[in-house]
Amino acid sequence: MRIAVFASGRGTNFEAIVKARKKGIFKASLSLLVCDQPKAGVIAKARRAGVKVVLVRREDFSGKKDFEAQIIKHIQEDKINLIVMAGFMRMLSPEFVRRYRNRVINIHPSLLPSFKGAHAIKDAFGYGVKVTGVTVHFVDEKMDHGPIILQQVVSVSKSDTLVSLEARIHKIEHKLYSLGIKLFVEGKLKIKGRKVSIQ
Ligand code: GAR
Repeated sequence: MRIAVFASGRGTNFEAIVKARKKGIFKASLSLLVCDQPKAGVIAKARRAGVKVVLVRREDFSGKKDFEAQIIKHIQEDKINLIVMAGFMRMLSPEFVRRYRNRVINIHPSLLPSFKGAHAIKDAFGYGVKVTGVTVHFVDEKMDHGPIILQQVVSVSKSDTLVSLEARIHKIEHKLYSLGIKLFVEGKLKIKGRKVSIQ
């Protein structure tokens, strides 16, 4: 099994995935990092880990179709079986999702369907929720929406600040994502409509 990670930012999830693979938590090759931001911290992390990096900038293409065609070219060349979105802050087109249906997973720092979007932790904290969490899910045509693989609850305490809550959520993300990848790699996820069962 060959995995590509798509990321746009710091890459703490990417780093956690690299570590989990080294520890043998899942058995697959981390073959490719696709990044759309030249200044993203994840690029240096991938180089340090010896993972091939491709930088595909949206601005270099006239349309989304050409941009994604370039990404697809890399996925095909590297014979990727699973795409792991780890803070890739771009919606995939419906055509891309259809092509790789049930082979793209995402992590999101809230209990979906609550608090979709790019600022989920801040939004949940600002709303005053008493519990929030982390979701690992398959990607479909809508943002932060596809069939849910795993969720973990995080309680918000009176003494929490946004910073302390973020730290706790990220720590959980770093464990939960590798578990989701392991389940996929071992063929343990069965999808029926919106429902994912773990065999
Ligand atoms: C993670 O918290 C991830 O859940 C979030 O981006 C962050 C990336 O951090 N993704 C989303 O909000 C998707 N809607 P990282 O670059 O340190 O892994």
